[in-house]
Amino acid sequence: MTAKLIDGTALSKTLRADVASRAAALAARGRQPGLAVVLVGDNPASEVYVRNKVKACEDNGLYSSYDRYPSTLSEADLLARIDELNRDPKINGILVQLPLPAHIDSHKVIEAIAPDKDVDGFHVANAGALMTGKPLFRPCTPYGIMKMFDAYGIALKGANAVVIGRSNIVGKPMAMLLLDAGATVTICHSKTRDLAAHTREADVVVVATGMRSILTADMVKPGAAVIDVGMNRDDAGKLCGDVDFAGVKEVAGYLTPVPGGVGPMTITMLLVNTIEAAERAARDA
Ligand code: GUN
Repeated sequence: MTAKLIDGTALSKTLRADVASRAAALAARGRQPGLAVVLVGDNPASEVYVRNKVKACEDNGLYSSYDRYPSTLSEADLLARIDELNRDPKINGILVQLPLPAHIDSHKVIEAIAPDKDVDGFHVANAGALMTGKPLFRPCTPYGIMKMFDAYGIALKGANAVVIGRSNIVGKPMAMLLLDAGATVTICHSKTRDLAAHTREADVVVVATGMRSILTADMVKPGAAVIDVGMNRDDAGKLCGDVDFAGVKEVAGYLTPVPGGVGPMTITMLLVNTIEAAERAARDA
């Protein structure tokens, strides 16, 4: 079997067209949606992600502000800036790019963001709302993956789903969304004893570990849907995911490529969350 590739670039294009028309409708009422992006330090990967987020705003009619701070910025100064953004009516969404430098407590920073502007969905209030079944914002990467399942007609009710990775950004919220959709969910991670024994039983596998080729063809059930969240470089410096793409493509039923799979969807869902925040703010005004 050769897997059907899930095209995140094409799906993003469709969703971004909807974002752009909703942004234009809000702008026509004097309420252009606005996203504040904050980057501390000079992590090269974070710089690329953040630049792409700001560009996606520009391309789709959202206002954006971009604060770049040196890694020496104090926690108090970052908290003061977030307080300003919380009170700025032009700003509907606030994104502080992670990871932050070690001297800054990222939990404290995330909890300082107003929950109704927390378009990442990382605040404890939003994580709790997701867990209890009434999400305000779904974290962007898992939300984008759910849109992929939906667009490609991949059934989740009763499916065995394995999530590899237990981060607050991807693994944990992904598991919650799959559970909510009726899947039987297993969360695996670096301490899991026999990863292959879990993945071989899975109809759906989401891999988010940052480790190249952690999922190989012999670990995949024929016909399974495999979602690769990884963003790594191979020995030749080429972008690659966490899945052994060439091998798994011959076994899986569906597979996301890297690049062109999950990556564009994450940014698209950030735009969607920002539009939703702006529409809510306009309704409440
Ligand atoms: N670092 C890696 N992914 C993300 C994300 O989705 N949001 C933020 N804020 N930081 C990240």
